[in-house]
Amino acid sequence: TNIENGSVKWESPSNIALVKYWGKKKDQIPENPSISFTLSDCKTITEITFTKKERTGFSFDIYFEGEKNEAFKPKIQTFFERIEIYMPFLKDYHFKIETSNTFPHSSGIASSASGMSAIALCLMSIERSLSLVEVTDEVFNQKASFLARLGSGSACRSIEGELVVWGKNESIEASSDLYGVKFEGEVHSNFKNYQDTILLVDKGEKQVSSTVGHQLMYGHPFAKERFSQAHDNLAKLKTILASGDLNEFVKIVESEALTLHAMMMTSMPYFILMKPNTLEIINKIWAYRQKTDSKVCFTLDAGANVHVLYPENEKESILEFIKNELVSYCQNGHYICDQIGLGANQI
Ligand code: PMV
Repeated sequence: TNIENGSVKWESPSNIALVKYWGKKKDQIPENPSISFTLSDCKTITEITFTKKERTGFSFDIYFEGEKNEAFKPKIQTFFERIEIYMPFLKDYHFKIETSNTFPHSSGIASSASGMSAIALCLMSIERSLSLVEVTDEVFNQKASFLARLGSGSACRSIEGELVVWGKNESIEASSDLYGVKFEGEVHSNFKNYQDTILLVDKGEKQVSSTVGHQLMYGHPFAKERFSQAHDNLAKLKTILASGDLNEFVKIVESEALTLHAMMMTSMPYFILMKPNTLEIINKIWAYRQKTDSKVCFTLDAGANVHVLYPENEKESILEFIKNELVSYCQNGHYICDQIGLGANQI
């Protein structure tokens, strides 16, 4: 093409899995299907400025929160190598990638989902501006998700909202291992504006990278059972999302979180990624549920932080509960209020 330069900008959210992805095959193909809530406020904002150059190797610079960043370079280099066959123009341009997060850096919140999906969307917009072919939004989103998956598996669930399924599952016809699809099933009004308050228990570096974590599912004694359980839980969740049965929702979501951690505790080598305060919080949530008719529950990613999930009509009481009983277990009293969101936006 003869376009010399331009710039594109996207904001893309983080997501929190209800049924967890843990274990992958070659080319970032998940061993089991997963489903997540797209978040609303925890986002990465990325602008890519592209300038025509000689067709040599890949050329890019990354600025994170205004400062030139070398640490992210190898990840982006690997990402470019993986996606070049789907984005043949990558070597024709120099890319200046400027990125920032709405949530604090080193908060222990994984920024790979929002970060990789934002870059994938920017590259899709560049492709769109360079090409003479029109693509529908559906095709655009699908390819963006496909590319994001090659950056970081869970990133493919950050393109759209409010619920996204990734990984082939019988109960969800459009589902695919290659990209995330918007969950098109019926969703009861109980899940409208579902809340996620993220309690930052440990803001440190992750003890185990997710790359290493996924690998630990190779030859894991319980892997086969786990993968089949995820299929069952997704099918059950589909029914629960339609019926609005929050008691059943709580059971699946909490069991998924603990199972993820159980997989890490029973792999070789083994890890405990929860901290004492993670357990304190879980016990407080259980006690609170016992003495009230609250439907509050927790979920966890591969770390110590706790996502507290609850329906919108409990917002006031749960925030009060969090302030009174849970904040003391957060590092520097730090927590982030978010809710289910609609997906990425071009800006
Ligand atoms: O996308 P990755 O490779 O960083 O894996 C993330 C996996 C979990 O966050 C632990 C679970 C999930 O489904 O998001």
